[in-house]
Amino acid sequence: MLVNQIYDTTIEYGKRVGKSIRKKIGQFFTPPSIANYMASLMECNQSTIRILDTGAGTGILTAGLCERFLEHDTITHVHIDLYENDENVLSLLRENMELVRTTLEQNGKIVSYTVFEENFILSHDDFWNDREEKSKGELYDVIISNPPYKKIAKSEPESVVMDSVVHGQPNIYFLFMAMAAKLLKPNGELIFITPRSFTSGLYFRKFREYFLNTVRLTNIHLFHSRLDVFDGDKVLQEAIILRAVKTTQATDSILISASQDMYTGESFVHEVPYGTVVDMSSENLFMLIPSSVEEVELLTIVNSWDYNLIELGYKLKTGPVVDFRALDLIKEESEENTVPLLWANHFENNRITFPVSVSKNPQYIVDTEDSKSVLLPSRNYLLVKRFTSKEERRRVQCSLYFADEFINEKVGVENHLNYITKLKGEITKEEMYGLFVLFNSSYIDIYYRILNGSTQVNATEFNAIPLPSLDDIIRMGKRLLETNSITTETCDTIIEEMFIVQNSKQERNVG
Ligand SMILES: C[S@@+](CC[C@H](N)C(=O)[O-])C[C@H]1O[C@@H](n2cnc3c(N)ncnc32)[C@H](O)[C@@H]1O
Repeated sequence: MLVNQIYDTTIEYGKRVGKSIRKKIGQFFTPPSIANYMASLMECNQSTIRILDTGAGTGILTAGLCERFLEHDTITHVHIDLYENDENVLSLLRENMELVRTTLEQNGKIVSYTVFEENFILSHDDFWNDREEKSKGELYDVIISNPPYKKIAKSEPESVVMDSVVHGQPNIYFLFMAMAAKLLKPNGELIFITPRSFTSGLYFRKFREYFLNTVRLTNIHLFHSRLDVFDGDKVLQEAIILRAVKTTQATDSILISASQDMYTGESFVHEVPYGTVVDMSSENLFMLIPSSVEEVELLTIVNSWDYNLIELGYKLKTGPVVDFRALDLIKEESEENTVPLLWANHFENNRITFPVSVSKNPQYIVDTEDSKSVLLPSRNYLLVKRFTSKEERRRVQCSLYFADEFINEKVGVENHLNYITKLKGEITKEEMYGLFVLFNSSYIDIYYRILNGSTQVNATEFNAIPLPSLDDIIRMGKRLLETNSITTETCDTIIEEMFIVQNSKQERNVG
């Protein structure tokens, strides 16, 4: 109905204006199936509703909500505010809003709307910064948005207005989310489709702190496929749809659903404890969004572990040798004063093979005064690749580096690798194998993939992964040494024997 009619006009508009122009302003249009799905999440059904559509485009999200109003006899009065600062799309937005208004009026609703040809963020500068107050009547019951996605500089006016949630280079989409949270009435709801990136990463920490302490998430929908969410526009982003309610009251659970893309139905719908998705007492407020029953179970196990690398006295750091900055130091061949320079291509079946007969990278680095600052003492390290390709099955790929297998006192670790080191003293053999059980298991690999959709292993996130106690880690290491196999299957079995069998025994005892 309304949504499909408006989508037809949107497609025409999209063709006329062209993708490259729209991309510059972060303009990607929502297809009907998503607009309808987002509207279906709305729960508000009071007689008078104030709606806000931010970054309204051609108005398709408002149309989705209005179709829902037609199903509710209880809703009699509707006011809609729409913000859109692209002057090219405004006449179509106004035409479409007239269509929405007349359709609702023909169905007995009393409707008003205002299109603000303004920058949504800059228009609310005073309100955001508490220089202006708004009465309850000026705030909103429902805010719906597919905000623009665009990295902006820290010096741009939007970043400056909202600097209290900005850390590093922001993306304008999360500024829209934070502003919307502020503009909701108490118990008002917001429904957004956004990239998934805000759920992890330090850049978004200040935003998460504000957002998660202002609203409580009630629904999250994940798309497995990066493509096909914004069909015509092929946005290469993992997208999520979320609904949240403005309240400070704790809620027990979040309804999580997932589907392959926007065409296929939900393949997973699960009510997940709030604390499984976000631990509100944690420092970074990372969000974990499971998309299968197995992932929910896995999160329950990993989240039950009480420590992390730092708390256990270890730390994942980034390899200090940056090849293009060390051109004078790195060598193709071994020389009198060189030591090994380790790269990802020295990983072989989770051990270090050095040297390799054919290497595209120089395998040595000089051990001189000039290289002092980038070399590490040759100690036991668990090396972890920083980058993996999307096609590779695992995100966390590690290799055991044992110092006693090398004669040199120092070693170079190239910048595409991370290494786990002990902050005081040397990692013992049992600890090395124990940590390996964890980081080579599917448990941590899948945990990390749930935490971070990207292909990079980020040190801050990695250092915060929950781990069991040091005693447990040493027990794991001893078990692995007994088995004489370092496969992922063996690592998984050790974890299952220690934690799943144990948990079910405890549950039986309690029962
Ligand atoms: C991702 S598009 C979504 C459009 C529409 N809501 C939809 O779902 O199809 C985001 C829209 O926000 C607009 N926009 C970008 N920056 C804005 C700003 N600072 N204030 C208001 N609108 C903005 C863009 O012109 C674009 O139309």
